[in-house]
Amino acid sequence: MSDVTSKDNKQSWFYSDIVKNHFFHPRNFIEDGEIDERRFNSIGKVGSPACGDELRVWMKVDPQSERILEFRWRTFGCGSAIASTSMASVVVTENGGMTLDEARKLKPQDIIDRLGGLPQRKIHCSVLCDKALRDAINDYYRRTEQFDKIIAEASRVIDSIAKVTDHDIETAVLEGAQTLEQVQQKTKVGIGNPSCLPAVEELIRFYKEKYFG
Ligand code: FES
Repeated sequence: MSDVTSKDNKQSWFYSDIVKNHFFHPRNFIEDGEIDERRFNSIGKVGSPACGDELRVWMKVDPQSERILEFRWRTFGCGSAIASTSMASVVVTENGGMTLDEARKLKPQDIIDRLGGLPQRKIHCSVLCDKALRDAINDYYRRTEQFDKIIAEASRVIDSIAKVTDHDIETAVLEGAQTLEQVQQKTKVGIGNPSCLPAVEELIRFYKEKYFG
């Protein structure tokens, strides 16, 4: 393992050998000349609110079994996003490919475990590929007119005074906020509207469980 220490907060960041391997040798990365949209039957795209980076994925899904036969990708994200997406591309296509239902059950933590861990501050990078995968699955169901299987991620306003949504709280947790006070420092949620605080605490618990298990 290598150890990178940030100058400002002296926090140690450990990158496993698996992370480094996938960063230096990304699997299933798509080159310019390979982007032939007729070869794929679903596309996903997502931007990260936490850092502004972007990720696109192309999937080839078998129409009979709905297994993911191919998962190709490219990103403007950081090394952790590259390693996470590379590992996700292996996980969803190994052993004949996951079905779309199985792929939906995959959590960012499953990818992080296969990578041998990620620094806390880089968890949001692995969430990027999780969201792009979900966007591509929705795209497949849209193209095949299975509209009842599309799962939309609408955002919900939690504090109408500070204009904070559940996605803002999700982003704060992904950026490392663990407590109500830390989420409030990042979002100002509930400062002028304390009646929403029980809902905020519930969401913090939900996102911590979702991303950190
Ligand atoms: S994806 Fe933007 S910092 Fe990792």
